Formats: sequence, C-alpha cells, structure tokens
Amino acid sequence: MTNFTPVMGSVPAKPAKPVSYRLVPMNRELIAQIADIERACFSVPWTQEMLLEELESLNSTCIVAVTQENEVLGYASLTVVLDEGYINNIAVKRQYRRMGLGGELLKVFIRFAQANGLAFLTLEVRDTNLAARSLYSGFGFQEVGRRKNYYDKPTEDAILMTKFFHQEEEKL
Ligand SMILES: CC(C)(COP(=O)(O)OP(=O)(O)OC[C@H]1O[C@@H](n2cnc3c(N)ncnc32)[C@H](O)[C@@H]1OP(=O)(O)O)[C@@H](O)C(=O)NCCC(=O)NCCS
Repeated sequence: MTNFTPVMGSVPAKPAKPVSYRLVPMNRELIAQIADIERACFSVPWTQEMLLEELESLNSTCIVAVTQENEVLGYASLTVVLDEGYINNIAVKRQYRRMGLGGELLKVFIRFAQANGLAFLTLEVRDTNLAARSLYSGFGFQEVGRRKNYYDKPTEDAILMTKFFHQEEEKL
C-alpha cells in the first residue's frame, strides 16, 4: 500500500552485542518466518496464506524488522480505511523483546498517520496482555472501550485502544 522507507536501527542483543536491523515492507521471502513468530505468540495465529493476502492487499501494509542475514526480529501490520488506521498486529521475537523494537515498529505507523492526516490509529488487545497495553499507552493510545469475550483460546475481553491525532499535535 504505502512506500515505507527502510529505516536502520539496532537492539542490544543479550548478552551485549548489538544486533542491527532494517525496517522494511514485508515480502514473500519473509512470510514463513513471520508465520513462525505468529505461532509462537498467538493462540489463533495468522497463517502464511493470510499473510500472503495481507501482502497483496492494497490498503494494508506490514513492516518487518530484519537483520542483514534476513532474520525477522519482529513485525507490525496496519490497515488504512479512508483516514482511519487499524493496527492488526505487532509482535517481536521473544529474545529481542524489551529492547525498544516494538516501539520502533509502532513509531513507523504513528509517523505515517501524522504525515498522511489520519484521524486516529486504533487496535484491540487482550485484557491480560499487559506488555502490549503498556507499550500502546506509552505511545499515547487511550483505552476507549471493551469488547466482551472478543477473543478465543482462551475466551477473553478485548480492550480497544486508540491514539487520536490533532493538527496541533507535536510530531514524533
Ligand atoms: C508487545 C510486544 C510487541 C512489545 O515489544 P517490545 O519490543 O518488547 O517492546 P519495547 O521494548 O519497545 O517496549 C516499549 C515499552 O512497552 C512496555 N512494555 C513492553 N514489554 C513489557 C512487559 N513485558 N511488561 C511491562 N511493560 C512492557 C514498557 O513500557 C516498555 O518500555 P521500557 O522497556 O522502557 O519500560 C512484545 O511483548 C510481543 O511481541 N508480545 C507478544 C505479541 C503480542 O502480544 N502482541 C500484541 C498484540 S495486541
């Protein structure tokens, strides 16, 4: 959908050596690794077929953090409808968490929203997913609602979180 310029970054790998990565749009070669991370993270994961559909969708995009060796460290997916942005998913490989990567992925969509005049970015998150809820609230997403029993495996409420954009808002 959108032309995201690849962004360079690095996270300090455990124990000490930094891992460099680029943020790039998803491509076919990365789909199998993304599906692996989906299975590791979610009880109802996106399949390779669903990711392929996402790749071919005109109003969705998935950005991926990859190393020089093409290892996928994390990814995030966004669908835009008119001036509304829906964050479908965001995940970081377990061993690379808490190093700022989730935030870097989120910032790409926040900058995109600001640059393209979106009214808001919104998403659903499991009630008990405190890591993700904390990530989003740290970037100015507010809890705006709850969908009862929205998720399966296990059944759980979804919390709706939205970040609204106003013209006067400071750019990231
Ligand atoms: C949610 C997720 C993407 C966060 O990725 P990450 O790379 O670890 O996030 P960051 O390192 O950028 O964290 C940014 C902030 O989010 C919050 N945060 C992240 N993980 C947290 C945790 N486990 N507990 C509490 N706060 C957490 C913190 O405020 C953190 O800032 P800090 O490290 O300076 O305290 C990651 O935990 C993940 O992949 N989880 C599994 C998939 C998932 O649940 N996705 C969300 C679907 S809605």
